[in-house]
Amino acid sequence: MKNKVEAKGKAQLIIDGKTYDLPVLKGSVGPDVIDIRTLYRDAGVFTFDPGFTSTASCESQITYIDGDEGTLLYRGYPIDQLADNSSFLEVAYLLLHGELPSASELETFEYTITRHTMLHDQFDQFFRGYRRDAHPMAVMVGTVGALSAFYHDSTDISDPEARTIASHRMIAKMPTIAARAYKYSIGQPFISPRNELDYSSNFLRMCFAVPAEDYKVSKTLSRAMDKIFILHADHEQNASTSTVRLAGSSGANPFACISSGIASLWGPAHGGANEAALSMLAEIGSVDKIPEYIRKAKDKNDPFRLMGFGHRVYKNYDPRAKVMRETCHQVLGELGITNDPLLDVAMELERIALEDEYFVEKKLYPNIDFYSGITLRAMGFPTEMFTVLFALARTVGWIAQWTEMIEDPSQKIGRPRQIFTGDNERDYLPLNQR
Ligand code: SDX
Repeated sequence: MKNKVEAKGKAQLIIDGKTYDLPVLKGSVGPDVIDIRTLYRDAGVFTFDPGFTSTASCESQITYIDGDEGTLLYRGYPIDQLADNSSFLEVAYLLLHGELPSASELETFEYTITRHTMLHDQFDQFFRGYRRDAHPMAVMVGTVGALSAFYHDSTDISDPEARTIASHRMIAKMPTIAARAYKYSIGQPFISPRNELDYSSNFLRMCFAVPAEDYKVSKTLSRAMDKIFILHADHEQNASTSTVRLAGSSGANPFACISSGIASLWGPAHGGANEAALSMLAEIGSVDKIPEYIRKAKDKNDPFRLMGFGHRVYKNYDPRAKVMRETCHQVLGELGITNDPLLDVAMELERIALEDEYFVEKKLYPNIDFYSGITLRAMGFPTEMFTVLFALARTVGWIAQWTEMIEDPSQKIGRPRQIFTGDNERDYLPLNQR
């Protein structure tokens, strides 16, 4: 770890008249933390924080979010600057290594990743076990977990070399697996990666090319895809990243850990929100129906929520949503889509919600999932593929966070406790006495 935490005095806890001193630690930016690692040993009590709304689970140097300001930094670099000036593989290198690469470092990294994009020929059999109408996220969870059956030479997590090659394999093979999940769902033959193409162009070609004719990747769409991957690459200790860290803390191999992250990301409250947001916009259908859905979203007795709105950390506009909205307009422009009714609904829904006192008071703003669905649909992806694309991009964040955890000397298996409210000890009752 580069910048160690620094002690910043102490907090005092008084329990049953006894005072406990707890160290307060300060990071490079963001809220201080109260170190409670010895609390149970010294005071015999647990803290209680379901959903971890006030709990820091680890020390990290990868990504920082200021929820009030609406800023997101990857290794200190603002997300909008990276989206405008960098490439996904350059951002992947930054997340993994902590610094932007030199020209030769980037060239070597791109060469290495490109030459890990192929899959073992037998691997393709896994897809054939699924129904054609299987949700592609179900395919991703299964096939990515199965990678560990092919790469025993890179599952020894104590070997830095093995960790590096497993990381490169994951980042390189996710687009190939994701494209295969899509092709399988539409009954088209798999398209092999091409080494002369960049990461996002290769992915678009594997998704949309057919053997019957040449496929020319649109530079604008490839650039948009790359930008979308950058926006989704990492995001502190969100639900799926925390899942990967917890799975990895037991020493599980990286392929299995990434598979657990994919499973967690699938939920509609998390990465599944981009698919749910587009379905919601389609259900609303037209601008005149918006007030009815705003009312439903505010009704405590109605489970309906505005998908793509709200965030555990952002209490301001998600900076990724701003870039996503610009990219949405660029893609629709490139494709000559001048009037997309769902975009009209999205823009009007955003305008109304941001003026409504319920959303203002609860600080609910559009998040990254609000505009991504419209963009991805315009690019030709079916709704079910949206979260797959999120998982593809987030793989580098999961890998970076997993590596940071494994290399942290203070790392130990994650094992939360509980407050137990069930039955106290009681004796077994024979059947004839119940
Ligand atoms: C992602 O953590 C990350 O970083 C995730 C992510 C990443 O990059 O990894 O950013 C990706 O998951 C983005 C979020 C995508 N999810 C959605 O868009 C689904 C819709 N949003 C909500 O489900 C919700 O906002 C969450 C899950 C995102 C956050 O929920 P919290 O932090 O647990 O907040 P909450 O549910 O306690 O909501 C606070 C209040 C509640 O009202 P009260 O009980 O206080 O009266 O706001 C309300 C909620 O009812 N509320 C909403 C709402 N989101 C919250 N009301 C209507 N519509 C919404 N979308």
